Amino acid sequence: MNQMKRDITIRTAVAVDQKTLEALQWRASLNNPGDREALLAHPEAISISVQHNECGNVFVAVVDGAIQGFAAVIQRTDGNWELDALFVEPEHWRQGIGRHLVEYVCLQAEASGATELHVIGNPHAQAFYEASGFESLGTVTMRFGVGLLLKRRL
Ligand SMILES: CC(C)(COP(=O)(O)OP(=O)(O)OC[C@H]1O[C@@H](n2cnc3c(N)ncnc32)[C@H](O)[C@@H]1OP(=O)(O)O)[C@@H](O)C(=O)NCCC(=O)NCCS
Repeated sequence: MNQMKRDITIRTAVAVDQKTLEALQWRASLNNPGDREALLAHPEAISISVQHNECGNVFVAVVDGAIQGFAAVIQRTDGNWELDALFVEPEHWRQGIGRHLVEYVCLQAEASGATELHVIGNPHAQAFYEASGFESLGTVTMRFGVGLLLKRRL
């Protein structure tokens, strides 16, 4: 579906969104083939930091009045931003919601003076990050496998 056909609104998350975001993160993560078993064995891996919400560092994508995706960011000590989480409701994948969230985060990061947006990407999302303007910096060993080190210049 074309991104322009969706009316996607981005807003900052508030504390009451937390349970909705955790449930969404579960559904999105379990749809990544191969991640399912590891997550079911380690459910504590799915938790969105309350601190994130309190700091205004979580942005939600609302479509037709319902949250269908979110991004969480961290501000790095070098002044750049890191995408710490990005999840879209599986029923709404490939509708431009992830791209919309990334563009929003890039604008916010740029406005804060950052020149780069970093992410340690799930290999399942490699095509998404490549399509979203990220360049590969290598890989890193993570708790549940390999992570892709990626960077987008702002
Ligand atoms: C990765 C994720 C956030 C992408 O969100 P999305 O809303 O489906 O992405 P978009 O619709 O904005 O996709 C933008 C472009 O990325 C590329 N892309 C996205 N998903 C893709 C896929 N599964 N395969 C190939 N290309 C893909 C396409 O070029 C797409 O544009 P197009 O649909 O016009 O061809 C979503 O699939 C998700 O939540 N995955 C599970 C959680 C996850 O792995 N998150 C990343 C953590 S690092």
